[in-house]
Amino acid sequence: MNLNNLLELKCMALQAPVGMEDPFLQARDESWAPYLRFLYLYTYTFEPAVAVELGTYMGTAAAHMASGNPKTHVVAIDIDPQPEAYEASQHYSNLEIWQGDSCEFHLELATCPYEEIGLLFLDSLHDGERPRKELDTYKDLLTSPALVIIDDLLGPEHLRIPMQEFWDELPEPKILMHDIHPRRIAPEVAYHDAPGIGVCIWT
Ligand SMILES: C[S@@+](CC[C@H](N)C(=O)[O-])C[C@H]1O[C@@H](n2cnc3c(N)ncnc32)[C@H](O)[C@@H]1O
Repeated sequence: MNLNNLLELKCMALQAPVGMEDPFLQARDESWAPYLRFLYLYTYTFEPAVAVELGTYMGTAAAHMASGNPKTHVVAIDIDPQPEAYEASQHYSNLEIWQGDSCEFHLELATCPYEEIGLLFLDSLHDGERPRKELDTYKDLLTSPALVIIDDLLGPEHLRIPMQEFWDELPEPKILMHDIHPRRIAPEVAYHDAPGIGVCIWT
């Protein structure tokens, strides 16, 4: 895996159909965002044994990772998972929802078959401090290489500086991919700035 591979996946994600021809994903209104197709294409292409999402909400991103590759074991953690997240885990046998604080699962994730995390998606609290703590908590469980994805680097605006500071601390190689997480152009949901996203190859 290198940055060129990831840029190719990004281009594919921008062109791929919403829902990746999976009826379950197609039926979700949230599936509009291209970063979800990037997650799908990542598990499809790189086949991580385990993918962990911190902050899953309705489980839509986790569902994309699970759909992308049935061999990838997806663990999606949230302090308050929505019913749609459990619905997704019933649909995909390789998707589990764990309820609790995003930094409280080291013991469980250090246990077979979870300890080989090839994809870590940080998307809980976007205040710089929480993703820093999450990465610090789980970095010893990452494969080498692994992909660390950081969502919402740009918005909401009042958290942009601490998120930028966290992004600056991450080692190279890394690349911003804000165009796969743009602001949705719809008056009822356009309440904050473009979320933005970045990816870091962790070795
Ligand atoms: C932006 S949403 C996640 C969206 C999801 N990753 C996606 O792409 O579809 C953020 C989620 O993080 C969760 N969250 C916030 N703080 C948390 C914490 N300390 N531990 C676990 N989950 C947390 C919230 O409950 C919320 O569901």
